[in-house]
Amino acid sequence: MTEAKRLAGEKAIDYIEDGMIVGVGTGSTVAYFIDALGRNKERIKGAVSSSEQSTARLKALGIEVLDLNATGPLSLYVDGADECDPHKRLIKGGGAALTREKIIAEASAKFVCIVDPAKRVDVLGKFPLPVEVIPMARSLVAREILGMTRAQPVWRENVVTDNGNWILDIHGLAITDPVALETAINQIPGVVSVGLFARRAADVVIVGGEPPIVM
Ligand code: 5RP
Repeated sequence: MTEAKRLAGEKAIDYIEDGMIVGVGTGSTVAYFIDALGRNKERIKGAVSSSEQSTARLKALGIEVLDLNATGPLSLYVDGADECDPHKRLIKGGGAALTREKIIAEASAKFVCIVDPAKRVDVLGKFPLPVEVIPMARSLVAREILGMTRAQPVWRENVVTDNGNWILDIHGLAITDPVALETAINQIPGVVSVGLFARRAADVVIVGGEPPIVM
């Protein structure tokens, strides 16, 4: 899958326009995109980063990292996913960066998602759905989600997000209405964000391969 991730990451460079500020996601597929961005850095003004991990990689390549409050809306966001359905709705947050990823996706006119073929599914939910929670609300949110879905929330112990919060992973879902589930989980007090990207799905999905498939 490493090769497929590289091919997807490098293909996303096609969406760069001169003078852009690029929104940058997190993960091993995005790492290939960042490396390719480094080879094109003269063309862009800078990047808005979704995690400390991506910020470090961008800076190491000499790409300026800008604050979203200063840039305003972005024209392009490139990020990976843990699952992607035929409607380009996603599960994200395997790397615990879902909240900042969601903020940048919302702020961007075009969201290009880069995945390897194993991420494609018909129905979202086999990959445990990440939910970022305020630490004191962990068990409250877990009980509410169990009651709502009958699926099992599991605390991702020893992981603290870049925002100082914790992650619950919900196992055993088959998400037939992703927008409804995203909305319902967002209503629970203590939820910071849920890794369902359905209300704001991807606009383009690049599936890495020889050649890459663009959906
Ligand atoms: C991080 C994410 C990543 O995009 C997702 O986990 C995919 O990662 P990878 O490209 O390493 O398979 O949502 O929070």
